[in-house]
Amino acid sequence: MEKKKAPHTSWEESGDWYDKIVGEKGHYYHEHVIFPRLLKLINLSPSSSLLDLACGQGVLGRQLPPSVKYVGIDASPRLIQAAQKYRKKNVLFYVGDVSETLSLEVDSFTHGTLILAAQNIEQIKRVFQNFQKHLKPGGQLIIVLNHPCFRIPRQSGWIVDPIKKLQSRRIDRYMSPLKIPISTHPGQKERSVQTWSYHIPLSHYCQLLKETGFYIESLEEWCSDKMSTGKTAVMENRARKEFPLFLALSAIKY
Ligand SMILES: C[S@@+](CC[C@H](N)C(=O)[O-])C[C@H]1O[C@@H](n2cnc3c(N)ncnc32)[C@H](O)[C@@H]1O
Repeated sequence: MEKKKAPHTSWEESGDWYDKIVGEKGHYYHEHVIFPRLLKLINLSPSSSLLDLACGQGVLGRQLPPSVKYVGIDASPRLIQAAQKYRKKNVLFYVGDVSETLSLEVDSFTHGTLILAAQNIEQIKRVFQNFQKHLKPGGQLIIVLNHPCFRIPRQSGWIVDPIKKLQSRRIDRYMSPLKIPISTHPGQKERSVQTWSYHIPLSHYCQLLKETGFYIESLEEWCSDKMSTGKTAVMENRARKEFPLFLALSAIKY
């Protein structure tokens, strides 16, 4: 892979922290929600090959059957270095900006994934164009993201109606595209390193997939499996079942 300037959205500065919370098997939601659901949604066979863009420290590669060929690319050298220390056969990692041209063969992967990263990349259409270029015709692209209808950083949050004993989601903005800074360590205030989040409405993702030559074959909404105990448990558990945390899109290259 050619060496180019890292995009400003790279998680290089938050890399050690992210590697620590993800570890070998994934963070809580990777392990309990995302991977179990993803492995059901993705139609892998022993001869499949998977291109994982914005792969972080490569945690998805460690969940796959050993025969599946896996290539992971991320903008953060630190996260790619972390990926390489978890040794596994049939996996390759590269540092690269996944919204730029990639030195990979055209039409060469049966599957593509973009996990918890669509909202961290400024030029998301270019990422979809890369998947279009490097997936085989009929290839399956799976995108998992924080649900864009319910989880908009700084513009959504829980509200409680104490009379009705209801916990609901308040959404202050939705249709407008937003660029939102996120502190990695909020307690450190302005000294904290930060990452960027880009919000676009769900219809915009669908439009971009259509424009880049994909049709959506399936859309799933995944809720948290956590359970509260104590006085507010009923209200909190009901809210968790009503408002999904993640959206998963399965799109096919045509
Ligand atoms: C929340 S992490 C998700 C990582 C991984 N997919 C996971 O599930 O653990 C978002 C990742 O997007 C990467 N990223 C952001 N912009 C990028 C770009 N333009 N090219 C490549 N990677 C990028 C960051 O470096 C970071 O590792």
